[in-house]
Amino acid sequence: LLGEYGDDVNMPVYVVGGFVRDLLLGIENLDVDIVVEGDGLKFAEYAAKQIGAKMVPYEKFLTASLFFKDGFRIDIATARTEYYEKPAKLPMVDISTIKKDLYRRDFTINAMAIKLNPLAFGILFDFFQSRKDLKEGIIRVLHRLSFVEDPTRIIRAVRFEQRFGFHIEETTQEILTETLEGGYLEKVTGSRIRQEIEKILEEQSSLKAIRRLAELNILKHIFPKTYYTGVMDKKLVNMYNFFQKLGDIYKNYNKFYCVLRVLLEFYDENSLKEVARRYGIPKKFVEETKFSEKIVIPVKEMIHDKMLFSDIYKVLGKPSPETACYISAYLECDDQEYFYEYLKKVYETKLEKVSGEYVMKKYGIKAGPIIGKIMNELFCKKLDDMKIDEIFELERIIK
Ligand code: CTP
Repeated sequence: LLGEYGDDVNMPVYVVGGFVRDLLLGIENLDVDIVVEGDGLKFAEYAAKQIGAKMVPYEKFLTASLFFKDGFRIDIATARTEYYEKPAKLPMVDISTIKKDLYRRDFTINAMAIKLNPLAFGILFDFFQSRKDLKEGIIRVLHRLSFVEDPTRIIRAVRFEQRFGFHIEETTQEILTETLEGGYLEKVTGSRIRQEIEKILEEQSSLKAIRRLAELNILKHIFPKTYYTGVMDKKLVNMYNFFQKLGDIYKNYNKFYCVLRVLLEFYDENSLKEVARRYGIPKKFVEETKFSEKIVIPVKEMIHDKMLFSDIYKVLGKPSPETACYISAYLECDDQEYFYEYLKKVYETKLEKVSGEYVMKKYGIKAGPIIGKIMNELFCKKLDDMKIDEIFELERIIK
């Protein structure tokens, strides 16, 4: 349909980028990126009217999104037309327009287009041996300045490499290293880097990608005081193992913050604050990191010795998901099992008969820290033995 609408407004229309790549790989991809040779906004407006979709324009970038009722979305961009090269010369013809648009992209595998207009429907535009690279499993930039133009591509290269089990081509890797050493990644805003790391963490192969970031020395340019050692790697392996269980206990957890707990371990406070500022990490993260670094060894030992939950609770309390993950990084499988039981117990246990108010009324105690202390003690008793009689136990504590 989009191709027909293209004909209606006299514009060549292509589907481009990741969609084409995945189509050729036989992978489902619902991210449809359309490029139009002509006025993308005008096309989007026309197409939206015909299909009955909602159109949101981003005029500054000459792009628009179409939103369908079922949540589906299509992004439409205008091929970046090169204007007149010399005043007297004709402008670039259509085909070079899409070619130039594709040439500006990150890697050959992402730089193919398929035409959608009816007469040429389904024709693949492959100007840069993209298909060959896709077949051979190669990540290759289209030109030497690709990483300088957009240094986040350094991280993207690793993401695609690890996602598809490809490898970064030799010259591309050299250019990547040169760009890194030129300090270009440091020039990018923290939030863009963070977005790329978060995208890596959504990948199935994210642990491998972290290793690769370390191997290519990229990690150093993101977190300058991180030394990726075998010990750190082992901690991440443990943590990744624990991720599978985490969803049972916590509805939401932030994988980025969890992984950072290990990557930023033992940073001095100022360096940690600096990284936190750069990547928009909340103050609470810094405080919790410092706290959990202090308690992790004793807690690990308590878990290993299978001490009472109440004893562990007195040191660890109800940890945030990130702190729980951090502790898990120090635990072998068996100990993770016990830790998981602990977390479940701590989050499921509730005092049913006794509340702070009850204690105040019954014993005539004024509100204050003492009430918290009493409640805490009672809670600890219940952690160790769910069958306790709360009223009876409270009586004992008060005495
Ligand atoms: N692109 C680029 N440079 C970037 C980001 C994106 O050239 N820094 C281009 C690529 O052609 C890419 C397309 O824009 O295919 C769409 O970008 P994005 O949606 O981020 O990537 P996908 O390739 O669709 O990857 P994914 O499968 O992870 O969505």
